[in-house]
Amino acid sequence: MQIRSLFLKHLAQTNPEPIGLVINHAEGMYLYDNNGNKYIDLIAGISVSNVGHQHPDVLDAVKNQIDRNMHVMVYGEVIHDQTVNYAHWICSNMSPNLNSVYFVNSGSEATDTAMKLAKRYTKKSGFVAQNDSYHGSSQGPLSLMNDSYFTERYKPLLNGIYYINQNNLHELIDIQPSRIAAVVMELIQSERGALSATLEFVRYVREWCTKNNILLIVDEIQTGFYRTGKPFAYMHYGIEPDVILLGKALGGGMPMGAVVTSEKIMSSFTHNPILGHITTFGGHPVVAAAGFAANNWVFQNIKQLKVEEKSQLFKELLVHQKVKTVEGRGLLLACHLTTDINIVEFNQKLLAKRIFTDWFLFNMNAIRIAPPLIISNEEIKWVCKMILDTLNEYD
Ligand SMILES: Cc1ncc(COP(=O)(O)O)c(C=O)c1O
Repeated sequence: MQIRSLFLKHLAQTNPEPIGLVINHAEGMYLYDNNGNKYIDLIAGISVSNVGHQHPDVLDAVKNQIDRNMHVMVYGEVIHDQTVNYAHWICSNMSPNLNSVYFVNSGSEATDTAMKLAKRYTKKSGFVAQNDSYHGSSQGPLSLMNDSYFTERYKPLLNGIYYINQNNLHELIDIQPSRIAAVVMELIQSERGALSATLEFVRYVREWCTKNNILLIVDEIQTGFYRTGKPFAYMHYGIEPDVILLGKALGGGMPMGAVVTSEKIMSSFTHNPILGHITTFGGHPVVAAAGFAANNWVFQNIKQLKVEEKSQLFKELLVHQKVKTVEGRGLLLACHLTTDINIVEFNQKLLAKRIFTDWFLFNMNAIRIAPPLIISNEEIKWVCKMILDTLNEYD
């Protein structure tokens, strides 16, 4: 049986029409199929492969750690230097109060863990979340999603969740804060089409949380590690969150999530009951080695990566009567098209031109542009030309 048929028969399917590209291997900016075709990667595995594929530093780090040991014991009981050093490095690149890391296995688990932590720390159980935000697919994060298409069939989910629209201060003012443990927010709503919160809104939310003993949990799972041009997106806003959620690029191409907060808040997990969150593989030393190598490389080479300039180049080049706007910051971009274009069909046309991209969960009229940060200006010019040529086919 062909690999594609086996994929459809034996691998759980979540989409009746998966992209179904057979990946033979990947290198740098490119994915290669079994026929030797080369595709430029415009999405980095959804904001994961910031250093591109098969980066030598990452491969060396993984190989070295595999030669020493892989999994030994569940999270938090034994000491792996790779994991500890990575936590130390992450904290040293964040605000001083964010000095304790709980490594988990995915972004969803990071969200779930942080929700538990907020309940423990504040002794309250409600949450405020934003409409059209995505924090993961397990039942905690799914409860934060206010999109009936995706959530209705899974109810009952958690109750006590209040939803507001990004940048709408009045909706927040209407919420009674006494039951709220945390506000969970993305500063750039990736799946809505990379739409940014305003400075005024974010600062107001920060003040509201501080005043009411509510934790501000910022989801940096897509925005972290220079994807938006700064180490973390909260740094665009001059605020300090109480809790940061990490994932995606955190693992340098391996699966990893994390909750970062203060030692004081994190210590809620150590007592009454102990083992506040348990996870077998969290902080896996091979994954930590990969993530550390990848992100250390990005931070050391950030000047040459010129994320802001590349962002600007995309925005300057993607001008067309069928392009409404290009939203987002850094290399977390969404090219919003006019509504007559079917995005799934459009992306298939791009795939035929050897460009690999994807659509957004809450916006079916935008092209996802989140390439590895190593993309060159020549590659950006070529990709934009291909996008414009494809748009011309609709005239
Ligand atoms: C902003 C954001 N938060 C959380 C998640 C969930 O991460 P994961 O798929 O690793 O569970 C995602 C995944 O797309 C995300 O984009």
